This record gives sequence, C-alpha cells and structure tokens, in this order.
Amino acid sequence: MKIKHADFKISNTDVRKCPSDGRPEFAFIGRSNVGKSSLINMLTQRKNLAKTSGRPGKTQLINHFLINNEWYLVDLPGYGWARVSKTDRSKFGDIIASYLLDRTTLVCTFILIDVRLKPQPIDLEFINWMGEQGLPFALIFTKSDKLSKNKVQASVAAYQRALKADWAELPVSFVTSSLAGQGREEVLDYINDILKSLD
Ligand code: GTP
Ligand code: MG
Repeated sequence: MKIKHADFKISNTDVRKCPSDGRPEFAFIGRSNVGKSSLINMLTQRKNLAKTSGRPGKTQLINHFLINNEWYLVDLPGYGWARVSKTDRSKFGDIIASYLLDRTTLVCTFILIDVRLKPQPIDLEFINWMGEQGLPFALIFTKSDKLSKNKVQASVAAYQRALKADWAELPVSFVTSSLAGQGREEVLDYINDILKSLD
C-alpha cells in the first residue's frame, strides 16, 4: 500500500471528541517508550508526524492521523508507568480503556512489545484483557535492530510460549524496526487486507 497523504487531525483525552466521520482506524498501544510513535512515523515515512522521545510518557493524548484521506492511524499514550487504579476499565489508564472499549470505528489495535525483553506480566495482562473484551489485535515486536536475528526469534518464541498458556490460537505478529524500516510492508499489507475486507 502506498501512503500518499498522512495528516495530523486532532489530539484528545476524550473519546467522544475523536473524529466522527466513521472512517476506520488502527491504533498503536503498548508500554511507554516501546516505540509506538516512532512506528507511526516509519509506516508513514514522515519523520516527525508523531512526536517521539527517549523519555517515557511522551504521548499523553489520543492522536489521530488521517491516511490517504481514507483511514486513521491512532497514536496512544503508553501504559505501565502509572498503574494506580484497580478497576478493569482504568487499569491501563482511563483514556486508553475508554478509547478501546467505546471507539466503534476501531477495527484493529496493534499491541507493541519490546523484542529485547522477556515476556512482561503487564503486556501479557493487557493482551489477555483485549481478548476478554473481544477486541481484535495483532502483536508488533519493536526495536529488532537492537538484537541479532537469532535473539529476535528466541524472544518471539518465548512470547508465543507464554501466550499458549491462555490462548488456543496465537495472534498474528510482526517484527519491526523503525530505525531500519523492517516490517513496514508486512504491517501495511495487513492493514490493507483488513480495509479491503470492510468494503
Ligand atoms: P510514549 O509516547 O512515551 O508512550 O513512547 P512511544 O511508545 O511512543 O515511544 P517512541 O516512539 O517515542 O520511542 C521511544 C524511544 O525508542 C525513542 O528514543 C526512539 O528513538 C526509540 N525507538 C523507537 N523505535 C525504535 C526502533 O525500532 N529501533 C531503535 N533502535 N530505537 C527505537
Ligand atoms: Mg509516543
């Protein structure tokens, strides 16, 4: 898929103020600093479309980017650095939970995982929570440029083993590097296939 246009539309803390044009959207979620905003820039090949930072907690809002005037990429704040509440809805942050649960035009969420880390309880918890809510998702392992190919494979396999404890079927997963551009075509093709299935 060719990205001809990528335009920032709006930032929000309130899901009710997100665009109401009904266009389908794909969201990026994961722990702070995992590389959500960098991945959006890599996919769109726009260097500074989404704001990135070496410090966790850079993205604090729901950010909508309109792609080819047809669909949205949505950059979300990270979870895992402000776990204060106990209720399900706010465990991963109020903004995130209400967005994921209430946004009817959300067709798929990409859950980003740092490929350098062994399976993290908060990521597994989040994946399981998405499953329990019946929300469609795919996994994206980020920062593959930081490991050898073998170590990337071992890390993905470790995640698959951990997921097998709770899942009969493993989710679709991708390996990416925003630095090297790895995984760009695969993720965009996946998005394109979903968009075509909506027509
Ligand atoms: P929050 O908005 O704070 O939740 O973070 P985020 O998930 O949006 O992460 P962001 O894209 O801001 O990236 C965090 C840091 O990781 C930055 O210093 C990026 O340069 C770096 N980074 C992101 N993706 C990659 C990658 O694929 N490879 C390498 N080497 N570094 C990356
Ligand atoms: Mg960000």
